[in-house]
Amino acid sequence: MVILLRTTQELEAERSKDSTVGFVPTMGNLHQGHISLLECALSEYSTVYFSIFVNPKQFGPNEDFNRYPRTLEHDISLIEKAQSKFPNSKVVVYSPLDPKEVFPESSNQTISVLGLSTDLEGKIRPGHFDGVATVVYRLFKLTKPTTAYFGLKDYQQYLVIKKMVKDLNMPVKIQGMPIIRETDGLALSSLNQYLTPEQKEASLILSKTLKSLHNTISGKSENLAKAQKLIQDYLADKNWNYLEMRDSETFSRDISFSKNITILAVYQMGTTRLLDNMQVALSRPEV
Ligand code: PAF
Repeated sequence: MVILLRTTQELEAERSKDSTVGFVPTMGNLHQGHISLLECALSEYSTVYFSIFVNPKQFGPNEDFNRYPRTLEHDISLIEKAQSKFPNSKVVVYSPLDPKEVFPESSNQTISVLGLSTDLEGKIRPGHFDGVATVVYRLFKLTKPTTAYFGLKDYQQYLVIKKMVKDLNMPVKIQGMPIIRETDGLALSSLNQYLTPEQKEASLILSKTLKSLHNTISGKSENLAKAQKLIQDYLADKNWNYLEMRDSETFSRDISFSKNITILAVYQMGTTRLLDNMQVALSRPEV
């Protein structure tokens, strides 16, 4: 069963009927990456809440909130197909008709995860992660999930949410889910639809570069300096917004003692910013 709810009042009434639930927050315009989160949630919970809400608070003044694709009918058909693989399951889709359903006029709080929110992606998009943390906080309050599922493609977002939940002692487990890629390596994203066929082909530079850095490091901390040198060479191409290695847990630039690192990148393809990352587990020589 798939139930579509358009108001917070309906959501609260429905939520009072369920005990433990999984939750998948999205902005809609769904693709297989979102559906992999839903299917994982359905494999763990018989009831899953799924939000479709284009959050105005996470768009900057020069970012096109109005142009973000709204494709509810298509989204619901993908959700129904996924739900039908799990007999007796229930998916409650919360797609509020009006942003005031999520952010009532009387509420003017902002959740800000200091430090992490203004680093790297947050430096380029000021206020973006405050908007994300604020909406996710509000959606958690409404859906009261036991586990919430986030794609690791937005790795910094995943860390921001984990930190918010830890700092505010929220009783929800945050489950990071693997990046889903096309067979040629391009990470799935709602933004890929804006690419021309030529741009799509050229976008492979992103996953290929991450893979080549991954192979250079090849799990050995001794190879980090070699990878760092390669990064400096790659950055001669000014289409990289950034290409950096960070500690996967602390997000620190200092990876001298890291056991796991994440290589994070954004490549500018025309007007589209393509975001991707790759995890590397490191072995360190015995001392
Ligand atoms: O990753 C997204 O789609 C959004 O940032 C999220 C988590 C749904 C918040 O609006």
